[in-house]
Amino acid sequence: MITPSRLPNVAVDGPSGAGKSTVAKLVAARLGLIYVDTGALYRTVGLYMLENGIDPDDADAVEAALPNVKISLTFEDGRQILALGGEEVGDRIRTEDASRYASAVSKIPSVRAFLLDEQRNLVERGGVIMDGRDIGTVIMPDADVKIFYTAAASTRAERRYKEQRAKGEDVSYEEILAAIEARDKQDSEREIAPLRPAEDAVLFESDAYTVDECADRVAAIICERTNLGESHGA
Ligand code: DC
Repeated sequence: MITPSRLPNVAVDGPSGAGKSTVAKLVAARLGLIYVDTGALYRTVGLYMLENGIDPDDADAVEAALPNVKISLTFEDGRQILALGGEEVGDRIRTEDASRYASAVSKIPSVRAFLLDEQRNLVERGGVIMDGRDIGTVIMPDADVKIFYTAAASTRAERRYKEQRAKGEDVSYEEILAAIEARDKQDSEREIAPLRPAEDAVLFESDAYTVDECADRVAAIICERTNLGESHGA
């Protein structure tokens, strides 16, 4: 029998909007791994600040509030469930405000340190595919497979533009592209845990593929480097 601690761990890092979480979820289901969305942890810290009137750019105020941020992370049928103060966060972490707060608090070193243990504990159980920005470089430098999942800013902007228009939002492609480029710059130039591929990461450029093709290719990258293909017939 394969014990959970012997299942491989997979790190998936990359910029926002490349579609890595959609693909990582599909791959997790296919290979019997647990999908962990680390961005949701930063979003939950951001949500606490938002709901308690704390300025997310005020690092001292955010740090002082951290002992009151009670996060619980559990899994139900492979779905990650996050609660704040005992109450499920659900879609409250997906609003524009929550995104902005998440991005601001993620730059604060004490916030990153606060979330480190939570993420490392998950790594210890093994068999996770974890997506974020610093997974291969900071959270699990010993991951069995590291994938840097990316897409050109123009591709990401186009996808986001279509999504937003479908929701009836009045946005322009140029606005979205500018916001994506600004966020890329901020994420890759920040001092702490900047977005960059680990030296031993496999670079995957998703531009030319459909979601299903991306999932096939990412699963193949993982299976080539681990025993997962054998145990799950993928
Ligand atoms: O992946 P996401 O959009 O849900 O992430 C939300 C924010 O958290 C985003 O601004 C980047 C940040 N983040 C991070 O700094 N490190 C991670 N491992 C994951 C997310």
